Amino acid sequence: MLTVRAPATSANLGSGFDVFGLALGAPADVVRVERAEETTIEMSGAGSQYIPEDPTQNTAGVVAAELDAPARICIDKGVRPASGLGSSAASAAAAAVALNELYDRGHSREELVHIAAEGEAVVSGAAHADNVAPSILGGFTIARDDGVTQIDASLPLVACLPDLVVSTRDARRVVPETVSMDDVVDTVGSAATLTAGMCRDDPALVGRGLEEAVVTPARAKLITGYEAATTAAREAGATGATVSGAGPGVLAVCRSPDDRRQVASAMLAAFDDHGVDARAYQTVVGEGARIYR
Ligand code: HSE
Repeated sequence: MLTVRAPATSANLGSGFDVFGLALGAPADVVRVERAEETTIEMSGAGSQYIPEDPTQNTAGVVAAELDAPARICIDKGVRPASGLGSSAASAAAAAVALNELYDRGHSREELVHIAAEGEAVVSGAAHADNVAPSILGGFTIARDDGVTQIDASLPLVACLPDLVVSTRDARRVVPETVSMDDVVDTVGSAATLTAGMCRDDPALVGRGLEEAVVTPARAKLITGYEAATTAAREAGATGATVSGAGPGVLAVCRSPDDRRQVASAMLAAFDDHGVDARAYQTVVGEGARIYR
């Protein structure tokens, strides 16, 4: 038997829709695996009652099939489903790393990103790698069809989760089908600024690079209190804030670890003013999936 912890992740980061991803220090899913004749799944933890235990409908079960690695898989959810923090991806990432080790399959971490993305396809309908890549590799990732680039980064962060339901399906439906050349130019500028910021561990550059005028405003409308929460985060010292993944979570980048407490409080108060309960994680850029024996 072995245990793997795989972190929550924040996809998109504003300017990198379906491309950028960031591993968070917390929360995380913890997955235990042991060899078995056939795959079974047992769920516990945050929101586990909403996740199917049928291996054909669960990201971890699909990964087990992809790796031809039948196992008893116990998933302790730390990452709440439908939060915008890559919940299904964390389970897929942990299962891929765990079963690769358990069955000594010898896949590289990059290969496991593609296998875990197949697990993601079951839930989202498309094999996105923008959450599984950072959950497996850690740090900041740029996931494209031709491969994944990983950059270690160090930044203080706040991830705020309002108690709202926004389905990924709805969040994808509101994405505009066309963009203007001005918006393309702006988005390229932001994405480049953000990437430079990650390379330099520079919160000011990363905060500026979150700015994006196509996908984010469309999705913000689905999140009650979003404008107030992101404005409050900036006023409390965050360099920038944006929708985490498909939402409803909101990610804020802070200048220093000491700023996180007031940024978190400001965001919670702003959601509360709109009648929305929320919780906040004061965290950092995290490492990738880790094996415990
Ligand atoms: N890039 C994806 C999206 C992440 O924003 O829809 C959520 O699966």
